[in-house]
Amino acid sequence: MSDYSTFSVVLTGASKGLGEATARLLIDGGVGHLFCVSRSVNDDLVTLAQERGVDLRWTQCDLSDAPAASDVARAVCEACVTETAGTAILVNNAALLEPVARVGHLNPRDLISLHSVNTIAPALFADAFLAARTSRGDAISARIINISSGLGTRAMAGVGMYCMSKAALDMLTQAIQTEQEDQAAPVWVCSVSPGTVESHMQETLRAADAAHLRDRETFRELKRSGTLNTPQFSASKILSLLTRTDIDSGSILRVDSL
Ligand SMILES: NC(=O)c1ccc[n+]([C@@H]2O[C@H](COP(=O)([O-])OP(=O)(O)OC[C@H]3O[C@@H](n4cnc5c(N)ncnc54)[C@H](OP(=O)(O)O)[C@@H]3O)[C@@H](O)[C@H]2O)c1
Repeated sequence: MSDYSTFSVVLTGASKGLGEATARLLIDGGVGHLFCVSRSVNDDLVTLAQERGVDLRWTQCDLSDAPAASDVARAVCEACVTETAGTAILVNNAALLEPVARVGHLNPRDLISLHSVNTIAPALFADAFLAARTSRGDAISARIINISSGLGTRAMAGVGMYCMSKAALDMLTQAIQTEQEDQAAPVWVCSVSPGTVESHMQETLRAADAAHLRDRETFRELKRSGTLNTPQFSASKILSLLTRTDIDSGSILRVDSL
């Protein structure tokens, strides 16, 4: 089992799916501090952390509310960076898939929510994280891991807004890398696609209206054939990025190549 005791981690979208699996592995590995952010709290994780003596702090926040997300980002990133005894980590994992609808059939409110959660919130957290590190004199080791998708580089009918948001997230990764590269102690940053992972998001894809999502049957077949990644598999690959020293900052990665 990995030892995460020297890491202090901010993890958005920790309540279910990939985020829950990531939090569980961090707790199992005795993570130093874990700051979880999502709308709902996962009580099983809270109990597990208590049993293992792990410092887990959960902040409930709807990340589609940008002013609220900004306040929470500043508070948790400041605590994460201030209290770390080793490396501070930000994992931007929370995301929304909906609206599953083609352009021309979009509800503006849903469109704004998706981009607020998938694009604006990660930028707010990255900004707060880097600002908190600078306030500590840029001395501490720090990494940002943005959970992206293969759909950030490949358009799919019916989820165009999700594709657009992940392309923007990948550009956030590259923008941070280019801004950090001339710093004395640059923060390492990457985007990583977790592959197709069995989760609430996949259930939504399997249940979508095929008139909008032409590839719906492909997602149903992935489930039928048992070829989806488990959240645990993808989470363990993603956590290997906490310590990898052979991958360039700014990389756009896939878990199946890790
Ligand atoms: N599953 C896949 O096949 C797949 C493929 C490629 C990429 N990904 C990426 O992997 C990451 C995790 O996805 P997943 O499959 O685990 O999805 P999921 O099961 O739907 O979980 C999404 C997480 O995001 C949080 N979240 C959603 N809306 C939020 C909001 N408005 N405010 C705060 N938190 C919110 C949810 O928490 P609450 O509901 O408690 O708020 C939940 O913890 C995402 O970035 C996704 O884009 C997934």
